[in-house]
Parts: sequence; structure tokens; C-alpha cells
Amino acid sequence: MNLAKALAVLGRGGLVAFPTETVYGLGADASNDEAVRKVFEVKGRPLDHPLIVHLGDGGHLDLWARDIPNDAHLLADTCWPGPLTMVLHRHPDVSDVVTGGRDTVGLRVPNHPVALELLRAFGGGLAAPSANRFGRVSPTTAAHVHDDLGDDVDLILDGGPCEVGVESTIIELTGETPTILRIGGVSVETIEEVLGRSVNAKAEGPARAPGMLEAHYAPRARIEVVEADGLHDRVGHLLVAGRRVGVLMPEKSGKFPAEVKVLIGGNDAATYARRLYTCLREADSNNVDVLVVVPPTAGLGGTDSGLAAAVIDRLNRAAVSAGDSEA
Ligand code: TXA
Ligand code: MG
Repeated sequence: MNLAKALAVLGRGGLVAFPTETVYGLGADASNDEAVRKVFEVKGRPLDHPLIVHLGDGGHLDLWARDIPNDAHLLADTCWPGPLTMVLHRHPDVSDVVTGGRDTVGLRVPNHPVALELLRAFGGGLAAPSANRFGRVSPTTAAHVHDDLGDDVDLILDGGPCEVGVESTIIELTGETPTILRIGGVSVETIEEVLGRSVNAKAEGPARAPGMLEAHYAPRARIEVVEADGLHDRVGHLLVAGRRVGVLMPEKSGKFPAEVKVLIGGNDAATYARRLYTCLREADSNNVDVLVVVPPTAGLGGTDSGLAAAVIDRLNRAAVSAGDSEA
């Protein structure tokens, strides 16, 4: 890794894309408002969508948050470094630019050697959203970042493909009952086990996590989620209607006409999650109009069923986005 260069870029207010276990982040010094504004500009992201602050360890939560509940310490001890973001009351020193003017801040210690080395050498927090243009699919390789952001990012650290492949779980810990704002790399069951009580699995009210309600995580292709036994009929119908069709499913089953782009997610949800965003990008690079998707099956329980839930959540969001007209 080009650590010295990364530190120099961050020090002068530049942007460094770095790998995490979930997806690549587009990082800026969280204490430098001008640098953080650049992140919004490059992403094309609305200013009221807060950024997650990434830390090298969970030992100094009190520098970033106040009124920290014991639940936060429990989760930090068990799930960090890892794919969990905690939303806490922000410390007064945390900038409005980072939090989108909110009184809360999202914090996470990512579990990736390159990210941890960078964060620990940097010492401060890195405000970092996923390193994609606003509303598009998150990047899970350095090449994805380069394809999306090109020269708008000063440095891309290549840490190989991301292990988890979908974003972190976000949990808000500012109210009476912890609330999941986004399901991701850590399952609700794991969180409930750590806390010894149940949590709210769905945030209520408008935009508790801005960016979570709109269609998001979407490729250009229209996504249709179907059950396995309806797949072949649906593909046939779309082909007759003249669509360029792609299929994403856990494993190849049955025969498809040669013009259908077949993508395989994988039989366990963890593999499917790891490949998901690469498959969505491949559908686009093959100019697929409609991607018909059979989601992963949550067979194994535990982590795997948590990741199945995260994949299904992303697929449903992608399916909501504006695609072409019905066929
Ligand atoms: O896995 C991840 O979380 C990746 C890697 C890079 O860490 N990051 C990521 O960031 O997915 P981003 O910005 O693409 O998505 C973070 C989501 C956004 O929907 C944002 O609105 C929400 O988290 N969020 C951040 N801080 C928040 C806060 N204080 N309150 C409510 N939502 C918050
Ligand atoms: Mg994102």
C-alpha cells in the first residue's frame, strides 16, 4: 500500500478511496470541512445525507459521540472491527458537514487490513461513503472505483475484492430501543444476541437514514425479482417482447437461449453477497435491459441468513428504481 502517499493526500484535504470488508469507501479527513464537501461534490450526493466516520479502533468513541449507551460499548467490543455502523448522539466537535446537520453521527471500525493500517496511521476519523456516484451500485473492487470516479479521486488503494460485498448494517442507538436503519454485514440475530434483547428491525418515519428510502443500489438494467419456478417463463416472455435479458440466480439450472446473459450468485448467501454488485455491473456492461433475479435462499441460519436478508433488501431497492417500461 502507498501509505505515505495516502497520508499526504488526506493531509492536504484530498480524497483517498480505500477497501473495507464491505465495499470501497471514498475517504476524506472528517475534521476538514472543505475535504468532506469534496466527497459530496464528487459523489453528486445531497448535502443532507450524512457520512459514516471510519475509525481505526473503538477506544475513543467519546471523541466522536456523547451520551454513549452501554449497548454501544457491547456492540463495539463484539462486532468491531466489522460491518456494523452505530449511529450515536454526536460530539459537539463533529462537523455539520459530516452529519448533514443532524445531531447524530454514524461510526464504524472496518475490518480490512489496508483500511485499518490507513486509519491507525492517520490517527483521526475518515468520513467515507461508498465510493460510487450517488444512487449507483457500490464498488467492491478498485477497478469499480476507477470506472465510477476516474480522476475525481486523488488516490485509490487496491485491497482486492471486498469479502462481504454488501454494506454495513446500520443501527441507531439514540433512543429507548435500538433500531436497525439498514441491514447488512451483521445480522439482526447477532445484534440481539449481543444485546440480550430485541431491537426494532425497521426504522419508522421519513428517511431515518437519508438515502435508504429512495431507490438505490441500482444498475441501469431493470431488476425483476422472481421465484425460481417462475424464472424460465418470465425470461421467455421478455425475449418475445424483444428485451435483452439477463438472469442472476444462485446456481445454473435449466437451459437458456444463447442471447441470455447468465450470472451466477452462488448457493450460499455469503457467496451471493460477495458477487452481487459485480454481477449487477456485468449486467450493465452487457447492455442487459431487464435482469431477472432469483434471490439467495437463506438455508443455513446465522450469518448466512443475515446476508440473505441484506442481499434481498438491496435487490428490492434496485427493483424499485426507474427502469424501462413494462414488458
Ligand atoms: O459498509 C459501509 O457502510 C460502507 C463502507 C465504505 O463503510 N459505507 C457506506 O456509506 O455504505 P454510504 O454513505 O454509502 O451509506 C451510509 C448510509 C447512508 O444512507 C446515510 O444516510 C446513513 O448511512 N447514515 C450515515 N450517518 C447517519 C446518521 N447519523 N443518521 C442516520 N443515517 C446515517
Ligand atoms: Mg452508498
